[in-house]
Amino acid sequence: MTVHFIGAGPGAPDLLTLRGRDLIAACPVCLYAGSLVPEAILAHCPEGARIVNTAPLDLDAIVAEMAATHAAGQDVARLHSGDLSVWSAMGEQLRRLRALGIPYTVTPGVPSFAAAAAALGVELTVPKLAQSVVLTRTQGRASAMPDRESLSNFAATGATLALHLSIGQLGKVQAELLPHYGPGCPVAVVYRASWPDQAVIRCTLGDLTAAVTDDIQRTALILVGPALGEGDFEESRLYAADYDRRYRPQTSDSPWAEWRHGDD
Ligand SMILES: C[S@@+](CC[C@H](N)C(=O)[O-])C[C@H]1O[C@@H](n2cnc3c(N)ncnc32)[C@H](O)[C@@H]1O
Repeated sequence: MTVHFIGAGPGAPDLLTLRGRDLIAACPVCLYAGSLVPEAILAHCPEGARIVNTAPLDLDAIVAEMAATHAAGQDVARLHSGDLSVWSAMGEQLRRLRALGIPYTVTPGVPSFAAAAAALGVELTVPKLAQSVVLTRTQGRASAMPDRESLSNFAATGATLALHLSIGQLGKVQAELLPHYGPGCPVAVVYRASWPDQAVIRCTLGDLTAAVTDDIQRTALILVGPALGEGDFEESRLYAADYDRRYRPQTSDSPWAEWRHGDD
């Protein structure tokens, strides 16, 4: 049978793909990472499903659950928060399943950085200010950072930073970023994006440690960079009235005119 890895999204039970919802509904066993996946998502499980919170389990025990369910001829829905491509520990589970010859599928989910940007109503890439988003974190107890992936190396680019798993290290974040972005750089902290108790703090890099209160813990993202400002950026050329493009040739001798007519 098959283990279906499903990105469960940032928290709101309706921020789940239709494919993810349907797979959860079709699987008699659901393993979910209970430290971040809200129980409301489990409402999509079929009646009588065996539902296991894997937060207290180690990797051996999680894979044993999958192998036993596979041996019993049943499919598994495996839920991790946000999207599976970042900080989900999916990689090590897939490697074990490959070694055991157990089939799997992967269904993406809405990542928390996208939910945080939606909560703020901002685009993280805007003309001339930022054209890249760096998804990163600070070093944690369980995960050492590779040497070259320091905050200051990323900050040197001036890109928009989306700092995960770092709300407990605000002082370090501020100290490493200040030389690159300056004290006036806009920052937003989004706590539990899309959850009922979502909270948003907007401040500057210079104010960061003072602005974030002690009740903002664990499930929060720190977004840093000039794109988070008050909307002081240029409009893109893409929608400029005089911009010659494939879908809107400006003259009959535009290189795009022939393509367009030929394609119509
Ligand atoms: C283990 S990582 C999981 C990331 C997840 N796979 C994703 O796609 O966003 C957990 C971190 O993601 C961030 N995070 C996850 N869900 C969040 C949410 N709803 N609001 C704000 N930050 C969130 C926090 O920084 C948290 O410490």
